[in-house]
Amino acid sequence: MKNTVRTFQAAKENGEKITMLTAYDYSTAKLMDDAGINAILVGDSLGNTMLGYEDTISVTVEDMIHHGAAVSRGCKNTMVVVDMPFMSYQTSIYDALVNAGRLMKEGRANAVKLEGGASVCEQIKAITDAGIPVMAHLGLTPQSINVFGGNRVQGKSEEAAQKLIDDALAVQEAGAFAVVLECIPAKLADIITKKLSIPTIGIGAGAGCDGQILVYQDMLGMFSDYVPKFVKRFAEVGEVMKAGFNDYIKEVSEGTYPAEEHTFKIDDDVLEKLY
Ligand code: KIV
Repeated sequence: MKNTVRTFQAAKENGEKITMLTAYDYSTAKLMDDAGINAILVGDSLGNTMLGYEDTISVTVEDMIHHGAAVSRGCKNTMVVVDMPFMSYQTSIYDALVNAGRLMKEGRANAVKLEGGASVCEQIKAITDAGIPVMAHLGLTPQSINVFGGNRVQGKSEEAAQKLIDDALAVQEAGAFAVVLECIPAKLADIITKKLSIPTIGIGAGAGCDGQILVYQDMLGMFSDYVPKFVKRFAEVGEVMKAGFNDYIKEVSEGTYPAEEHTFKIDDDVLEKLY
């Protein structure tokens, strides 16, 4: 059955964990859909993992539509959430509505995600009122990396922790159906999770959240430019890929690939007529 915002809410109410991973292409989305993941986030982390940027700042709405549509084509039951990239919603409510609409119409998103708390609540309300579910994102919000001065744990002081609680309540009040909590102390995430009636999805926020998300290349060991402390490697796919590439190079170099069974036949009498 297709996962929707109702699946998220029911999971919170029944104490069942919500599973999310990022994906950016059709083949990976199909594998995750087959595995039974609840939701895929087409994250603007694609700027790092797919496009090789050092941050998410340069990612465009067009990038998100391109990858969102590919992921959507691979998903039967998995809900698809597409990130709103930097400056596609901060500038005005009008921009936020137009761009969220494009992510849904052209990128086939089932929901959008945007970063920020009280400062983007008007956008969250307007987008939700337009019929587009919004996932909020608090804590270490990568689009604000230049304000934070790097990838740092957020919410450690009393003031910062209180602001995160207030922001979480504000995005819920504005209509968000869920909120990602990134890189905040586990005990603070527990408090926020208990205070909210909408689910929290943690990444570097401990086991007390209602669900978890990871960047798939991180959890499969395919991306090592930067490995955050909270990442667990569930497989070493990068090593498997490298071994496959090496074997291919070796066999092509030695002439053992392609072998007889990989080639196509033609009748000898056709060959005889050629000049
Ligand atoms: O862009 C992304 O992948 C994200 C997750 C890390 C939550 O926002």
